[in-house]
Amino acid sequence: MKLKPLYIVVISCIQISFAQNYEAKVDSLMQLMTLQEKIGQTTMYSGNWDQTGPFVGSDNGKYIREGNMGAMLNAMSVKGTRDLQKIAVEESRLGIPLLFGYDVIHGHRTIFPINLGLSASWDLKMIEESSRIAAEEASAEGIHWTFAPMIDVSREPRWGRISEGAGEDVYLNNRIAEAYVKGFQGDDLSKHNTILACAKHYVAYGAAQAGRDYHTTNMGEGELRNVYLPPFKAAVNAGVEAFMSAFNELNGVPTSGNKFTLRDILRDEWKFDGFVVSDYTSINEMINHGFAKDSIDAAKIGMNAGVDMDMVGDVYRLHLQQLVEDGKVSETYINDACKRILMAKYKLGLFDDPYRYIDEKREATTKYRPEFLAKAQEIASASSVLLQNKNETLPLSNTTNTIAFIGPLVKDKADILGNWAAKGDRYGKAISIFEGLSAYLKPEQILFAKGCDILTDDESGFEEAIKISKQADAIVLVMGEDHHMSGEAASRTDLKIPGIQPKLIRKIREANLTKKITLVLMNGRPLNLSKEVELVDAILEIWFPGTMGGAATADLLFGKVNPSGKLTVTFPRNVGQVPIYYNMKNTGRPIPEHWPKADYKSNYIDVANTPLFAFGHGLSYTSFKYSELKLSSETLTYSNAIEASIEVSNTGKFDGYEIVQLYIHDKVGSVTRPVKELKGFEKVFLKKGQTKTITFTITVEDLKFYNSEMTYGVETGEFEIAIAPHSDFKFKHAFNLID
Ligand code: BGC
Repeated sequence: MKLKPLYIVVISCIQISFAQNYEAKVDSLMQLMTLQEKIGQTTMYSGNWDQTGPFVGSDNGKYIREGNMGAMLNAMSVKGTRDLQKIAVEESRLGIPLLFGYDVIHGHRTIFPINLGLSASWDLKMIEESSRIAAEEASAEGIHWTFAPMIDVSREPRWGRISEGAGEDVYLNNRIAEAYVKGFQGDDLSKHNTILACAKHYVAYGAAQAGRDYHTTNMGEGELRNVYLPPFKAAVNAGVEAFMSAFNELNGVPTSGNKFTLRDILRDEWKFDGFVVSDYTSINEMINHGFAKDSIDAAKIGMNAGVDMDMVGDVYRLHLQQLVEDGKVSETYINDACKRILMAKYKLGLFDDPYRYIDEKREATTKYRPEFLAKAQEIASASSVLLQNKNETLPLSNTTNTIAFIGPLVKDKADILGNWAAKGDRYGKAISIFEGLSAYLKPEQILFAKGCDILTDDESGFEEAIKISKQADAIVLVMGEDHHMSGEAASRTDLKIPGIQPKLIRKIREANLTKKITLVLMNGRPLNLSKEVELVDAILEIWFPGTMGGAATADLLFGKVNPSGKLTVTFPRNVGQVPIYYNMKNTGRPIPEHWPKADYKSNYIDVANTPLFAFGHGLSYTSFKYSELKLSSETLTYSNAIEASIEVSNTGKFDGYEIVQLYIHDKVGSVTRPVKELKGFEKVFLKKGQTKTITFTITVEDLKFYNSEMTYGVETGEFEIAIAPHSDFKFKHAFNLID
């Protein structure tokens, strides 16, 4: 055992300016490293985390000691990470500290709404705060690096991972990507409460064919550059330190072996200088894709394409040295990869103090702090979307004699956290909706029946549910998906509320023809609610709202908080309309305005083209009135901006937030342009009776896109413009861009 790691002796002798500091230190450390030790830094294994910490299996301990492991995932807790870090620092030849990574996706202990829900808040500050809190909690348990944010644009509700992202829109994804990165990484990575962020899954994973996870993606470069790449570019601009390559192939080349996306775009065009990790065994999976002959070939392709770190696949450790010796992989690539990973460790301050994230006191006092839980409650209510509210069914009154709460999710404390809930406590800490009600109702006002399960077809609970629904003065159904139905490997071909829940909804309506029924939905994707919109009066979409979800939902149901979330993804009328998104192309045969369908036009014979709920839709307990839009000029030039403004008034009975959205349509382009595109938004608070003027500044930057030559720029001509409460509107105003 050594007293002092060798790197400390070497680097402490070097006196150089602060700016060159890290780099020179890394370079001199690398002088001491063998090729295999450098490869060790590019290798990540998984710890088998259990109640008290990660299991230091013989191989993990051995690899760390030999300098054959640079990073570890699924290893945490102060005790566990200290044991592992000690081996790295005290027992390996050079004493290079390990990097601990984990999936901190929408909270670590305090769980926030699933990311699709978070995006529905359109609240960048809240999203940043949620990832800041997640970083506080995760870093206090020894974690240095999160595999988040997931910034895959997706228009595919069948795909279970749509729940992990920010929906279908590019602009919104860009802004949200920046907010997450800022939250996780903070302003100084060397602080013990900041962690590395990782933009994933690079790239186009959200376009999996038929919504089946891990499936093939095919698209032209224009669509790739205009739709799927921008959030990743935004993350680079926000300073993200790591990228994760994806599982999918893209136009025949797996994204974990894709030189075009990883080297040409990410490194050469965008100048990204952080490191790229593969997804879990995604380098090895190139064999199944039919792109690599065997694991040696896979290691070669992965490193040559630009994947710096192998997550769990064990092909870099085993094969890279030989591949270098055989001249099949350039040693420069290994040096670059190793250097980037060591640089990240330097930035985190791990070379100054490898135990900087390991502090019992901080671990014990950081999780579930009251202010974190309060923030989680606020964010959960801001993320819910009031989809429908006929006859002012909501808010409920707490003076109502009795309210029947029916459904498999009323008392749930497990699904409410959603998928990828890190170390969130599904039973002890989560507040169920039932528990949330106690702030508003006395026990004798609450009637409860589970009614049915989410997935079985056992109808034995129907009778009791129908009985209490008849006794009650109002009815609230709490239904949806279970949390395993979204997230990774959770694709569905059917978008209906699962199981026999729709049947129970129908039976309850049949037994209560005139009573007001509210449906509270927990789910991780857009659902087909075509039947339910007819059967119930109000629908409140709460996604999987997280630890404080029950309390937040009760606040919304009883009007303490006015709903303000808006959809960031389109809800279709049925699964056959998928993919359906607001910014489609017009086609050569669009249906005439106001026509539901027409012969030989681009429509279906059995259902309208329109969605059930459009992107941007979300109601409030109050109402908002938008004035006519005003443009400062109808002519935009390359050097002058124009301003578009509108007055928004709260004309209803409650104070509330409104999310005001700016859309533009480039009417004619050298490549066709979407029928409308979100270009800005503002979330504004209006007291009842209050009016505010909202102004957006438009410059040529807002109008740029990649043309058929893959040049990014603007084209002169006419642009339609609107400021609207959602994406379902017709343009009435326009401006011209002139040279
Ligand atoms: C997922 C990633 C995740 C990784 C590590 C993979 O299966 O695709 O999103 O970060 O596992 O847990």
